[in-house]
Amino acid sequence: ASAQIGVTGLAVMGRNLARNFARNGYTVALHNRTASRTHDLVKEFGHEGDFVSTETAEDFVAALERPRRLMIMVKAGEPTDAVIEEFAPLLEPGDMIIDGGNAHFADTRRRERRLREQGIHFVGTGVSGGEEGALHGPSIMPGGSKESYGSLGPMLEKISAKAKDGAPCVTHVGPDGAGHFVKMVHNGIEYADMQLIGEAYQLLRDVAGYSPAEIAEIFRTWNTGRLDSYLIEITAEVLSHVDAATGKPFVDVVQDQAEQKGTGRWTVQIALDLGVPVSGIAEAVFARSLSGHTALREASRHLAGPKATPLGKAEAGAFADRVEQALYASKIVSYTQGFHEIATGSEEYDWTIDLGKVASIWRAGCIIRAAFLDRIRAAYDARPDLPSLLSDETFAQEIAAAQDDWREVLAAATRQGVPTPGFSAALAYYDALRAERLPAALTQAQRDFFGAHTYRRTDRPGSFHTLWGGDRSEVEA
Ligand code: 6PG
Repeated sequence: ASAQIGVTGLAVMGRNLARNFARNGYTVALHNRTASRTHDLVKEFGHEGDFVSTETAEDFVAALERPRRLMIMVKAGEPTDAVIEEFAPLLEPGDMIIDGGNAHFADTRRRERRLREQGIHFVGTGVSGGEEGALHGPSIMPGGSKESYGSLGPMLEKISAKAKDGAPCVTHVGPDGAGHFVKMVHNGIEYADMQLIGEAYQLLRDVAGYSPAEIAEIFRTWNTGRLDSYLIEITAEVLSHVDAATGKPFVDVVQDQAEQKGTGRWTVQIALDLGVPVSGIAEAVFARSLSGHTALREASRHLAGPKATPLGKAEAGAFADRVEQALYASKIVSYTQGFHEIATGSEEYDWTIDLGKVASIWRAGCIIRAAFLDRIRAAYDARPDLPSLLSDETFAQEIAAAQDDWREVLAAATRQGVPTPGFSAALAYYDALRAERLPAALTQAQRDFFGAHTYRRTDRPGSFHTLWGGDRSEVEA
């Protein structure tokens, strides 16, 4: 038994994580359902470090030094349960099973509970950064016991991405499902970021009249400022790419139907359960599902509406600046919503998640990595009990400075018939939070009218009901 870590499930994420461990000096035991994958890995990358290639579950477990660290990189859902059932009987108290897939945090909680009975630490771990991240340094979000982090943490710190200040992009997020919960919200925010970028692109194209290549340049410029982020960077790459077969902008030959594997949807489902308004993230999920309704879109193509008429070159530049403001302000709102969900989940499940730490480990390695996250970290570090990111003075000032342009952009989008569900939801959230009075008063009154659901008054305590069907006098409920 010589391997410090074992990886089972050697599809691209598992394979790259295994190589990352090996490149960092760890001896890595390898296992895969079909052994040819294991052999291929060793044949191709064996020179990168120490690998122990194994064929059976027993050999794999026997190759691991104790306490064993066994990482499973298989599909979320049933395949994960099947692998756990295969290996758990072979393990001993103190051993660790690390699930690095995109599992639902409720499954992680269930698995953790069940394995704890056997004395096994189950560490549900978010891993972000795609294939490249897995190989060169992902952002890692482990849950599970504190004790397991003591043994596993230093290894994860070694293979993780490092922020500009050198800090490893990994932390013990919290017990049981906390890591997968945070990864889920990371993905929800990822969806929102992508939707907002998509809307910015569409506005620059239809309202400003820029070509994809010109828009790529605009994104490149934005990437040198406060929007500096991986997703903005790759947007410029994608938009400047030309399809070899047709000579057209690549973005024009890709079918406009966005797929999803589920983590964004979970973010919204859980937010609904927790009562957290994540309207921007929800719109991003809905926008993807709307895009996939081919028949619905086909049938609706004749619906009336304005046709966008592109601005002249002179005005286009100023409009692009406005879109940058709208994008940035909307981004602040989606992060506000995402962090609110994490804070609420943390409270609900007693995880005591450090929000500043979460922002900190998202600064590098993950898909939503951005300069912006350093500022979120600073905001939470300065005030860990910050009720909302919008309560941070700097963000509030920035959004205040952006809002005129934000409104102008939305006015133009509405006039010209360009759908902007993300920008619009973000502004509606912002205005709702600002509002002194919301029409919720009317909603409550209606509820009382048709269902005697009662209401509270602004001028004295207690619950009341108006006898709507009678003399409309008020009674205490
Ligand atoms: C990451 C990504 C990763 C993956 C998502 C994409 O953090 O590395 O989020 O987890 O790319 O599964 O999600 P969809 O397929 O739902 O877009």
